[in-house]
Amino acid sequence: MLEQIEGLLKEAKEWQAKNAQEVEDFRLAFLSKKGKLNQLFDEFKKVPNEKKREFGQELNKLKGKIEERFKSLQEESQNSSVTSEDKPDVFLPEVPESLGSLHPLTITKRRIAEIFARMGFSSEDGPEMETDWYNFTALNFPENHPAREMQDTFFISKGEEQKDDTLLRTHTSNVQVRLMEHTKPPLRSIMVGRVYRNEAISARAHCQFHQAEGLYVDKNVSFKDLKDTLLHFAKEMFGKDTKIRLRPSYFPFTEPSAEIDISCFICKGEGCNICKKTGWVEIGGSGMVDPNVLVSAGIDPEEYTGFAFGMGIERIAMLKFGINDIRLFFDNDIRFLSQFKGV
Ligand code: PHE
Repeated sequence: MLEQIEGLLKEAKEWQAKNAQEVEDFRLAFLSKKGKLNQLFDEFKKVPNEKKREFGQELNKLKGKIEERFKSLQEESQNSSVTSEDKPDVFLPEVPESLGSLHPLTITKRRIAEIFARMGFSSEDGPEMETDWYNFTALNFPENHPAREMQDTFFISKGEEQKDDTLLRTHTSNVQVRLMEHTKPPLRSIMVGRVYRNEAISARAHCQFHQAEGLYVDKNVSFKDLKDTLLHFAKEMFGKDTKIRLRPSYFPFTEPSAEIDISCFICKGEGCNICKKTGWVEIGGSGMVDPNVLVSAGIDPEEYTGFAFGMGIERIAMLKFGINDIRLFFDNDIRFLSQFKGV
């Protein structure tokens, strides 16, 4: 009897099951009514009384072990069936990868560059880390003049003289000077890039943002040319019914100077929250290049005149896409960015 018990245990231990069917085979062979275990229990009835206690104990142990083996075979087959039976079906159509999309600022920058390119403006670039000379002094900001305070500046290091101080550019107008130094007029360019100002971050202001600067220098460039260029841009960017309004303003590097407003294309001038019920929204500054700036860049103001303008790209993108918080541009939140797919 003990031999039979041992034999059955060995058999159960060696039993392998690759799938659910083979586990069921094990159950039928060992644990079913007519299975090997029950057969042994039948034989146990014939065992002489004095041996019953000893054999009975062994038989019960065997039963426990066979049940254990059954459970572990079940578990094994469940785990292995994932790898052995669910092999990838190579004939299934592929799941399309979701592509990224352009950042709303990139979309806006490209659109601006495209509109001006059709008017003959090239695209130029300049450094974000700049000297005081290019950011201020050459642009006719007198030394220690309060106009420098208009733009809260991040300074990097002090130079021997004020014009040698290094800073993060506060506007893209620095590229105007660099361009005029190296290029003989006529020149017609836009300069798109990032600028920095030490401002408290809120829904409407950020310490970093982008501008698109425009510069046109040639013989007989007039204020009318500036107005026509800006009007054409506004119509292309915001719709053909858009109007512009130039409001007198002050910048050290332009004279006369003007803020650029566009008619609110959301309420069509009737007054809404975006235009604060005025029917107009400001998108930037502009003016005729101050003769002092032409001189700083080595251009004869008697021969040439020019106009310049600078526009906030975030401002334009916020108007165009109905975005109400400037911080969204820099959060890199995929839920925001993925809304600009296919724009
Ligand atoms: N640089 C000015 C600003 O950042 C904008 C401007 C550019 C005004 C060119 C006039 C001409 O506020």
